[in-house]
Amino acid sequence: MVNVNRTPIIGGNWKMHHTRALARELLSSLRAALEEFNQIDVVICPPAPWLGDAIDTLESSSILVGVQNVHSASEGAFTGEQSAAMLVGSVDYVIVGHSERRLMFGETDRQVNEKLRSVIDAGLEPILAIGESQDERESGETENVLRRQLFTGFDSIKMLPTGMVIAYEPVWAIGTGMSASPEMVQMAAVTVRNLVAERFDEITANSIRIQYGGSVNSTNASEFAEQPDIDGALVGGASLNADDFSAICEIFAHGR
Ligand code: 13P
Repeated sequence: MVNVNRTPIIGGNWKMHHTRALARELLSSLRAALEEFNQIDVVICPPAPWLGDAIDTLESSSILVGVQNVHSASEGAFTGEQSAAMLVGSVDYVIVGHSERRLMFGETDRQVNEKLRSVIDAGLEPILAIGESQDERESGETENVLRRQLFTGFDSIKMLPTGMVIAYEPVWAIGTGMSASPEMVQMAAVTVRNLVAERFDEITANSIRIQYGGSVNSTNASEFAEQPDIDGALVGGASLNADDFSAICEIFAHGR
């Protein structure tokens, strides 16, 4: 489903990396490199303690700020957590359902659904992360896994925000240096669009933006950018380097 109207979006998921000094340095370098980069959407998701620095440093630039996780409740006695409602006015994007949260912190599809609903209700932009494990791919379960993650993830949701972002991140490609092939990701992206069309409608399926995540770097990014259904990348390791990350943004800005 080629749709040139989908604005590519590159996310930098810093995960739990960098001291404050390094984070500030990286933010300043990113601002210098991408300050007026309006061709595509760029969103930086730093660790929560550096959120204030990110908001201050990137203020009135074209770079958006996101967070890596939220609690599904709007407030309450949940030590150590943050809600989507609290982030309104400070950040634009929220990653929901990252595989590291699913696998290391036991997040279920049901909890991902509750978080996704809280982000949509708060009026923030979700980045819903989905993807199969190596075993699931090898046993031919990829489509079933994506179906389960999406259909449970979308439970009770009547409409998706326009241009909502879904990050397809096969677990085996994350942080391994072993990216999926562009053709494999293109096929998965078509599967995701078909599932969204089945659950919602064709217009929604054609408008959602699908990122690929998993060992994306400035060398392999162009192969993904050339695929008609891949609308950007969610970048982990390479987002910790301003030159690499900016190069990936440039590639997606000129990739279609
Ligand atoms: P890497 O780019 O380090 O493989 O991480 C991908 C990822 O998990 C982004 O959310």
